Amino acid sequence: MDTVTHKDQTLKKEQPTLYIRKALPQDLDRVLLVEQLAFGHDQEAQLVRELLNDPSAQPVVSLIAFQGGRAVGHILFTSATLKEAKRAVSIAILAPLAVVPDAQKQGIGGKLIHRGLELLANAGIHFVFVLGHPDYYPRYGFKPAGKLGFKPPYPIADEHADAWMVQALGRGVMGPVGGKVLCAEALNKPEYWSE
Ligand SMILES: CC(C)(COP(=O)(O)OP(=O)(O)OC[C@H]1O[C@@H](n2cnc3c(N)ncnc32)[C@H](O)[C@@H]1OP(=O)(O)O)[C@@H](O)C(=O)NCCC(=O)NCCS
Repeated sequence: MDTVTHKDQTLKKEQPTLYIRKALPQDLDRVLLVEQLAFGHDQEAQLVRELLNDPSAQPVVSLIAFQGGRAVGHILFTSATLKEAKRAVSIAILAPLAVVPDAQKQGIGGKLIHRGLELLANAGIHFVFVLGHPDYYPRYGFKPAGKLGFKPPYPIADEHADAWMVQALGRGVMGPVGGKVLCAEALNKPEYWSE
């Protein structure tokens, strides 16, 4: 945490309070700006715009984080289905997650993940999948999905197999499930599945 020296005492400079809520239609520009700033290009902002308008992605969980009145983080979960599974389960996909550069490493990404998973668990979702950094998402409960028999929408190269992860919510589902994940149309492009 930053410190400020004030006369003979050192005061801790507190970060403004973090506030997370569901993103509303009128937050769209803020959400897209967070995505652009975090990733440094427009691809994810464009994906978010498409997913929010994609009927096959509904219902979504879209959360925005504010710090000191400024939007600093966004997370999106979209609906998906599991084909050839051993049990009927409800699933969602986390993509993308974004925290603006100057607000990173304060736990905001983790809080967005936790809040989203809580909402999804309450909505009866059994599993949440992500294709992402294999050193980051396990901090928040994700495990390699391939070893559990879950196939991604597009094949992932062996050297990136650990980037395909899953987390069971609530009490989980007894016994093996497996199956192939079918994602929303806007996410169903090979370029989104090559880590
Ligand atoms: C990845 C991201 C969302 C993390 O947000 P954040 O609010 O900084 O995350 P947290 O504060 O919860 O966790 C920060 C920790 O994760 C680590 N971390 C961040 N990105 C990481 C990565 N790609 N791989 C491994 N660890 C990573 C940080 O080094 C930090 O570690 P520390 O606690 O030991 O210092 C943010 O860095 C970001 O928006 N990056 C650009 C967009 C992106 O890559 N999104 C993820 C797409 S899968």
